[in-house]
Amino acid sequence: MSAIHILHYSLIVGTCFVSHYAVAQNNTVGQAPWSVRLMGGIYESEGRVEVFYDNQWGSICDSLWSIEDATVVCRQLNYSGADLALVAGQYGEGQGVVLFSNMACNGMESNLSTCKYDLVDVTNCDHSRDAGVVCTSQGSLRLAGGSVPGEGRVEILGESGDWGTICDDGWDKTDAGVACRQLGYPDALEAIVNVGFPNTQPVFGSGSGHILLDGLDCESEKRHLRDCLVTKEWGIHDCTHGEDAGIKCDVGLTRLVDGDFDDEGRVEVYYGGEWGRICSTNWTIEDAHVACRELGFPLGARNTQIFEGGDGPFLLDDMKCQGFETHLADCESLGWANNQNCDANLNYGAGVVCNGRSLLI
Ligand SMILES: *[C@@H]1O[C@H](CO)[C@@H](O)[C@H](O)[C@H]1NC(C)=O
Ligand SMILES: *[C@@H]1O[C@H](CO)[C@@H](O)[C@H](O)[C@H]1NC(C)=O
Ligand SMILES: *[C@@H]1O[C@H](CO)[C@@H](O)[C@H](O)[C@H]1NC(C)=O
Ligand SMILES: *[C@@H]1O[C@H](CO)[C@@H](O)[C@H](O)[C@H]1NC(C)=O
Repeated sequence: MSAIHILHYSLIVGTCFVSHYAVAQNNTVGQAPWSVRLMGGIYESEGRVEVFYDNQWGSICDSLWSIEDATVVCRQLNYSGADLALVAGQYGEGQGVVLFSNMACNGMESNLSTCKYDLVDVTNCDHSRDAGVVCTSQGSLRLAGGSVPGEGRVEILGESGDWGTICDDGWDKTDAGVACRQLGYPDALEAIVNVGFPNTQPVFGSGSGHILLDGLDCESEKRHLRDCLVTKEWGIHDCTHGEDAGIKCDVGLTRLVDGDFDDEGRVEVYYGGEWGRICSTNWTIEDAHVACRELGFPLGARNTQIFEGGDGPFLLDDMKCQGFETHLADCESLGWANNQNCDANLNYGAGVVCNGRSLLI
């Protein structure tokens, strides 16, 4: 690939957002209460959420932050919806106050003011927990033609609001990893290309819209496909829908870290674009059973264990599993990123010893 043909995709896409979005200003004169703006993102369509309230701009604590809340923010900014609700200050720390926590919209509100929320003093929130969003806009992704969540033909939103496909020329696992993370999964298992082309059909079928991208080359740390290098301009390709790229994402949203053996460790969960810990407050053997089974140990847990260390946010707290749930996320708890019962001096991560090793001995 000749260097002169390498265009930075972000430059192409970036210019398309300008007319869509009122550029955030520091101006407070005439600002409507509950106006929102997005700060600290690479694109206009993403960022730390700031709200104009009580005559000042402030941020939102990530406690209970969800895709429904993000949807309301994005619609207030005239986007059709939200792709992701992000936690743990991923767009940098705001300067002003943290205004709200436990934001609980149902997703249909036209304005955050009609959602449930708390003024921030109920949790130990600081700017390291600022909530963020990625709004649906050009470059957003969706999956089509798969039979389980996290797999399918990758479809990307074009400039005129049309969904198109990506040509599988050069499509590899690194590119697939970026696509999976953009969709909110931790990583890719596999990049799907039509190896038998033109004699075979793509695994996840052929799309029907435009083929919007050809010759993508991502670096692993990129967060959006639109941040990757591309050898051709948007919409230019030499492919057919027989070469539509697909992915299989890792939808395992629980992992074990820092154990001495494969069947023990600190339990970490993935939510809002981050791996984080479970606060050990009220962590019981019933909770551990669910964690172990979710991690692939059908006989559940032998014991609970508490781990100091780790630096992810506390994403779950005060778990109250009954023991038969399939996923930790199905158990009663304080809700995502709500760690208000986590003792700041003793906030050790919850861990498990699963029934794994003993079966092999
Ligand atoms: C916004 O205004 C505040 C208060 O007047 C000021 O402290 C801050 O530096 C300004 N920020 C920017 C980005 O101009
Ligand atoms: C949000 O709703 C409140 C209450 O109806 C209203 O006072 C405010 O102006 C609205 N703000 C925006 C930005 O629409
Ligand atoms: C959204 O669209 C409405 C109606 O066209 C307009 O009044 C409002 O200023 C727009 N908001 C933003 C943030 O661009
Ligand atoms: C959970 O832990 C807190 C603080 O240690 C305690 O006050 C509370 O009673 C516990 N709840 C349950 C259901 O055990």
